[in-house]
Amino acid sequence: MSTTERSLHFNLFIHDTGHHEASWRLPESEPLAHIDVAYHQRLARIAEDAKFDSLFLADSPALWGDPGRRPSGRLEPTVLLTALAAVTSRIGLIATASTSYNDPYNLARRFSSLDHISGGRAGWNIVTTAGDAAARNFGLESQPAHADRYERAAEFIEVSTKLWDSWEDDAVVADKDRGVHAESDRVHPIAHAGKYFQVDGALNVPRSPQAHPLLVQAGSSEDGKDFAARYAEAVFTAQPTWEEGQAFYADVKRRAAAVGRDPEGVKILPGIVPVIGDTEAQALELEAELDRLIQPEYAKLQLATLIGLDPALLVLDRELPADLPDEDEIEGAKSRYTLVVELARRERLTVRQLIGRLGGGRGHRTFTGTPVQVADTIEHWFRTGAADGFNIMPAVLPSGLEVFVERVLPILRERGLFRTEYTGGTLREHYGLPRPANQFAPALVNA
Ligand SMILES: Cc1cc2nc3c(=O)[nH]c(=O)nc-3n(C[C@H](O)[C@H](O)[C@H](O)COP(=O)(O)O)c2cc1C
Repeated sequence: MSTTERSLHFNLFIHDTGHHEASWRLPESEPLAHIDVAYHQRLARIAEDAKFDSLFLADSPALWGDPGRRPSGRLEPTVLLTALAAVTSRIGLIATASTSYNDPYNLARRFSSLDHISGGRAGWNIVTTAGDAAARNFGLESQPAHADRYERAAEFIEVSTKLWDSWEDDAVVADKDRGVHAESDRVHPIAHAGKYFQVDGALNVPRSPQAHPLLVQAGSSEDGKDFAARYAEAVFTAQPTWEEGQAFYADVKRRAAAVGRDPEGVKILPGIVPVIGDTEAQALELEAELDRLIQPEYAKLQLATLIGLDPALLVLDRELPADLPDEDEIEGAKSRYTLVVELARRERLTVRQLIGRLGGGRGHRTFTGTPVQVADTIEHWFRTGAADGFNIMPAVLPSGLEVFVERVLPILRERGLFRTEYTGGTLREHYGLPRPANQFAPALVNA
């Protein structure tokens, strides 16, 4: 593959024993996988051996779901990724962290630390966190309004980038003879005074290998897409059909161009749940076996939480109520709400059927089929402007990852669509993205 040729990007989305709601009930699944560092290290090594660009951990600062019914609670992502950094050397490490329930100084420092520790492999999935459960852990009665959460997120990024730039690259000189460790005039206070944050700076960590962690974004509402267009370098998104995927891709690239960015600088990665069998029938049987393990009443509660509706409105053997609110009236996860409601309406699904459809990936596209069929679909989305790569969300881990790596990647490599070796050292280099310039450093004058 020549270096100028466009090639696929793969991110592994690690989610406990797999993305299927019932995966923990399979004989192969480890009961304590979600809090087991060695388990995550094994997955990280498999993904790195397969030359994935990155791996990713989701997060919310609240206990999700009923701990009686599925593995609940997880390790804090930046802490866990530090343990993964120690046993890997190339793969990118992306942690989710909320702009609604953190402060920029602490979080900028944590990501800068992870970037130093990993040698330039840190990424931040920037989320605004939907739902009242998290708000109630931070002294609030309910979540701040959707628009306010995104406004705070924008200022949060502005402060964070100032903090990451507060040390110039060559500020540290460690000149033992002169007794000067850093040139003080290259360490800048940021003196930020805004609506949400007042931060003097500078950061208490020197500039890291990537300067800024890779900035990833994962909300697909109108505000979310504008935010992505302005700040994100990679976008995670749930797109249930190719048509919707292509429209989303074009929309975000257009918005990026409209704010003066190179659209190539924003990589769009829809989530896919690959369910792979030697034959199509075997793949379908695997999917059906998992769906049989779903507990419908519990899954109904999960669905209500996912889309922020009162569970009493959902009746298992009926369609969704006709008079649901519009997306404008939703203060939680707007785009996921619309995705789920449109899917149910389009196919006239009962709540029970809808749960079956969402059980595998909470609205992400499931590609079920043989390795060639899965590779064909990936290639189709990639070549027709619906994806720059994919967020791989195996229904069952680690087996779903192993099958994807052993059966699908060789086909994509044969077609020249995916790397056989890493060519870069940092996460930005894997995604073909530049290292940010420093807003405080004097502009370089060409000699
Ligand atoms: C692949 C993927 C992973 C996500 N991970 C998280 C997460 O870990 N935590 C979180 O609060 N939101 C996460 N989100 C984003 C939520 O879906 C988002 O909060 C929601 O879509 C609200 O954004 P919106 O209102 O702009 O649609 C993720 C989204 C996608 C597509």
